[in-house]
Amino acid sequence: MQTIRYGGDYNPEQWPEEIWHEDVRLMREAGVNLVSLGIFNWGIIEPAPGEYDWTGLDRIMGLLHENGIGVDLGTPTAAPPSWLRRAHPEIRLVDFEGRVLASGSRHGVCPSHPVYNEACASIVEQLAARYGKHPAVQMWHLHNEYGWANVDCYCEVSAAAFRGWLAEKYGDVDRLNDAWGTAFWGLVYRDFDQVEAPSLAPPGVNPALRLDWKRFSNDAHIANYKMQRAIIARHSEAPATTNFMVPNCKDMDYFRWSDTVDIVSNNHYLVAERDEHEIELSMSADLTRAVAGGPWMVMEHSTSAVNWQPRNIAKTPGEMRRNSLAHVARGADGLMFFQWRASRAGAEKFHSAMLPHGGTDTDVWRDVVALGGDLERLSSVVGSDVAADVAILWDWESWWALELEWRPSVDLEFRERVEAYYTSLWKQHVTVDFAHPESDLGRYKAVVAPSSYLLTATAAKHLHGYVESGGHLLVSYFSGIVDEHDAVHPGEHASVLRETLGLWVEEFHPVHEGTRLALDAAAESRWRSGPVSGRIWSEHVRLDGAEAVAAFTDGPDAGRPAVTRHRVGAGTAWYVATALDDATGLRGLLAEVLDAAGVERPTGLPDRLEVVRRGPFRFLINHTDQEQFVPDLRGADALTGVAYDRGVPVPAGAVVVLAHAGS
Ligand code: GLA
Repeated sequence: MQTIRYGGDYNPEQWPEEIWHEDVRLMREAGVNLVSLGIFNWGIIEPAPGEYDWTGLDRIMGLLHENGIGVDLGTPTAAPPSWLRRAHPEIRLVDFEGRVLASGSRHGVCPSHPVYNEACASIVEQLAARYGKHPAVQMWHLHNEYGWANVDCYCEVSAAAFRGWLAEKYGDVDRLNDAWGTAFWGLVYRDFDQVEAPSLAPPGVNPALRLDWKRFSNDAHIANYKMQRAIIARHSEAPATTNFMVPNCKDMDYFRWSDTVDIVSNNHYLVAERDEHEIELSMSADLTRAVAGGPWMVMEHSTSAVNWQPRNIAKTPGEMRRNSLAHVARGADGLMFFQWRASRAGAEKFHSAMLPHGGTDTDVWRDVVALGGDLERLSSVVGSDVAADVAILWDWESWWALELEWRPSVDLEFRERVEAYYTSLWKQHVTVDFAHPESDLGRYKAVVAPSSYLLTATAAKHLHGYVESGGHLLVSYFSGIVDEHDAVHPGEHASVLRETLGLWVEEFHPVHEGTRLALDAAAESRWRSGPVSGRIWSEHVRLDGAEAVAAFTDGPDAGRPAVTRHRVGAGTAWYVATALDDATGLRGLLAEVLDAAGVERPTGLPDRLEVVRRGPFRFLINHTDQEQFVPDLRGADALTGVAYDRGVPVPAGAVVVLAHAGS
């Protein structure tokens, strides 16, 4: 990609043809160079089984091409046509509670059903054969949001596919019994045929069954993608993608997806009612970059409000631009919206668009045109890396496992801890990469493991090697507890990390809701961020080589270590036995770890002044409502051409992108 791809979902089938001409003219005015077409048009292009109507698609493809606008051509399989559901009611999705989903919307079919998959194969074959060599096609957009409303299906076809998946994985049912620990409650299976899909059941369903079910369901969607991809490859050389939902889809393990797509693309919508929601956006972008292993593209975000949250708060002036450029700063080489023109009818008519109901005399439209100009000025960013010295560990499987039933506390949440650490680092202007625990961590000065409950022995060994060879690792409580089948690692708690952390855990002591656990004065004087206290968790840490850096002064573990440090080889491993937050000690502790690890970062800036370095640029994004001044920087703003010699002012809510920045 030479230019930043700019555009959005385009649904011309919702409009008469004369509007298409206006669309294309306005797209050019806004600098749109790519649109996603045909994502939900199966019922239009195949009006009856085996009958095709290409008239509209042929025309619009031609019109876009004549106007220099590329097409990201969708396969419409996320919206099976009414005739298919009617003729084959057996493909309808059966949910966790055994209810069969009706039609009238999209998705809602069993991802493993052969009838559905054959119908997908057939329409994709037709589409790819017809447009595979069309000059407008720059990329393929397979399906839409795999796992959105059909994550898993509990019908008998799906259950049978699950049994086949298990037979392939374990070969022998005794290996499954062993891995799943089915001696517990005598749940032992004598044949794969005895395994059922884990739908609504009495409490205490085997967690290993649930974990493999999630892996299977994820793989069922990957199989549909791969089937479509193979068909397209016979007709077209254009790259393919499908839009992910990082990090807001818990159900798809996107690390398992990353190798299947040619380009990683992501949909991100602000959680509008959340305070400081720009931090969650940054996290989404950083995690998408980890999945991609480099640059990626935003496939969908919104110019303003969405229509599906409880209160759909519109973006404030300048917010769309800040959001967009934050994505670019964090690795996006394409910036697309849902959708080009606001729909008149249907479920999404109150969703914002690039071209709102109010037309071109609107702030949104003016911002869309201005953003097109900004992106042109930033095109040299394409393909470049984001600078990050710190990694946070992320693992979908650990997320799944941690939040299964019957954990030591309902307050144990994967994202709660990841976001606590991410937020504190973000506010200290530290750009992070996310990384899978088994990935190569050698290039990071510091690695943070906020919630690594499920940690394989291999991953633990890997982390040990990282520390031994000079890395700084910070691990939060309830990590290294179980293996990939949710079985406790042999021996004491956290045994797989014992050598690394220099400690083990004798007993967990989760605390009452709202309880605050004070840490000693030594911690307070070190981390100087006001009172230092923990929430949620306390535990009996038994030192075995580590030194206590801070101790609990109250609660079930008063007088025992709350934060520890252990030198291993050339590096250091830190451990935190309670939930610290940015304002209650985490900021100070992280600062100590970052200093020890030699992580450089800007100092003296307000929390909400986002600073990210990518390729030739340094992005300064001011999320506050006051002008901010960044001393010690110089360079020219790539967006305005204004040069700064001694420090850079960033107006309230504005973005400055310094080219050839120096300090
Ligand atoms: C998702 C879908 C789109 C649209 C948007 C609305 O991301 O992929 O088709 O429904 O949500 O926000």
